[in-house]
Formats: sequence, C-alpha cells, structure tokens
Amino acid sequence: MPGPASLELGGRIAEKLGFDSHPVDHRVFPDGESYIRLTAPVEGETVVVVQTTFPNPDRGVVQLLLMVRAAKDLGAERVVCVVPYLAYSRQDKRFREGEAQSLDTVVALLDDAGGDDLIVVDVHNEKSLERLQEKTSLGIVNLSAMPLLAGHLKGLGFRGAYSLSPDEGAKHLADAAARVLGGGSGFFEKIRDRKTGEIEMAVKDIDLGGKDAVVFDDIISSGGTTAAAVRGLKNQGAKRVAAACAHGLFMGGAEERIRDAGTDLIVSTDTVLTSLSRVTVAGLIADHLYKI
Ligand code: R5P
Repeated sequence: MPGPASLELGGRIAEKLGFDSHPVDHRVFPDGESYIRLTAPVEGETVVVVQTTFPNPDRGVVQLLLMVRAAKDLGAERVVCVVPYLAYSRQDKRFREGEAQSLDTVVALLDDAGGDDLIVVDVHNEKSLERLQEKTSLGIVNLSAMPLLAGHLKGLGFRGAYSLSPDEGAKHLADAAARVLGGGSGFFEKIRDRKTGEIEMAVKDIDLGGKDAVVFDDIISSGGTTAAAVRGLKNQGAKRVAAACAHGLFMGGAEERIRDAGTDLIVSTDTVLTSLSRVTVAGLIADHLYKI
C-alpha cells in the first residue's frame, strides 16, 4: 500500500514481489490536514504500508499513522510499516536538558497505531533502534543501501576506491561499501585551525595521493559535511572523489555546495526521490519483505 510520499517506490516494491499495489486515496485539505482512504479490503491480510517521510516530515508521519491505524481498524492481521527515510531519527537522544526525544516519539506512535513491523533504510544511528527495540512490540529492522551505492559506483569505474565516512561513528557505512569496492575504508577527523578557528576534515595515516575516494553518509542535508569531506580529500591529493548517501535531502543549494568543493559525482537512493537518485532500494526492501 504505497502512501502519498512513496507512490513510485511502493509500486516498485510491489512489482518486485508480484503483489497487488493499492495506493491510498489522499488529499490535503485547505487547512493543511491530510485525508486518507484505503482503496482495498484489508481484513485478515498482511498489509505493507510504504511511506517515506520527506519532503514534509510532519505530514509524512501523520499520513503514515493514519494509514497504519486505518489498516488495523479495518481488520488487517499484520501491518508492516516500510519507512525508507525515517524522519526525526537524528534527534535520538536528549542532547540538552528538556529536549524531546523525537525518534522515540515517532516509533511509539507507530506502535500505538497498530504497526507490527518497522523497516527502515540506513537509520541515522542503528544503536538507537536497538535501544527502542527493548521498549516496543514492533519488530524493527534497519537495512543498508551502502552495498548498492558501492555497486553502482563500481560500475562507474570506482572499483578499488577508498571508502570514507564523515566520522568514526559512521564507519560501518564505509566498511559496508568497502566490502564491495575493495579499496579499504576509513573515517575523517576534524582539525581546527588554531589561527582561524575553521574546521577542516582530513584522513589520517593514509596516503590518498592519486587514489579515487568515496564519501558515504546516511543523509546529505545542507551538504556542509560532505562538501568539507570532499575538499579535504582533494587537499590530500585524491584523484576522483564521489559523494554517496542513502537519503539525499539536498536542502538549499546542497548540490552546488558539494560540486563547488570539487566532487566528481554525487549519488543517492530513491528513499527520497531526486534527480540524483540513481540507485533504487526497491529490491533491497522487497527481498526483506519476502523473507519475513
Ligand atoms: C550527521 O550526523 C549525519 O550523519 C550527516 O552527516 C548530516 O546529517 C549531514 O548534514 P549536512 O548535509 O547538513 O552537513
């Protein structure tokens, strides 16, 4: 059941599985509220709701909740929530006193609405989902698109390129990509210029001179992180530099920012559909749905 924010991807997933696809009927009222109507009987069925939460995270989440609750109310036996890009995942802890733990709230709402499973792609911090798994009856699974992105880049001649993540915490992204590209992996360290106070990104203990390199991240939003990483790689003598992410939000000139930093290629997946979505996660999600 593709939701309003994932009509294309939801259709592709159904096609891969050979299932019927029933996009919901939806409308947004003049005051901004969403209307949702399921277009197929769901009683006794396993229903797969596919709804990403971008470009309007708040609306995407509310529409998702309306679909899940409607399916459960109408007698669905199992509701599988596929949320390719899970908004609010970066606010996964209380960084400052008094803050809302937004990710916890969104997951609790899906649980309350009647979701049985939650499938996401490259969530910002997998450990936060492991923590939430203890608190919810939802079966939570995080899939990674990094091998697919790396495979795409391999096909474009990046075999043997060095894979990098913007920081140590995200090194698992670069590691997963390196298993496909075969050129090793590492992460950036931030170096503050003592005179100017500016932060530069550099990779220690490796000579990147004349080598191809790829920066892998979960999200590109403003593009600031990726642009700094690309600039750092070029300063260290890297030959070709590509930027890859699961969720390309590309806010306010992000693409230009990264291109200006000297990147040779930018690629993202269709968890968020843009002109840079060269890799589809439909097969990745369909394979997992088939298994469960
Ligand atoms: C941060 O921890 C994330 O993994 C991304 O690196 C970040 O969200 C990218 O944001 P931006 O593109 O605005 O630098």
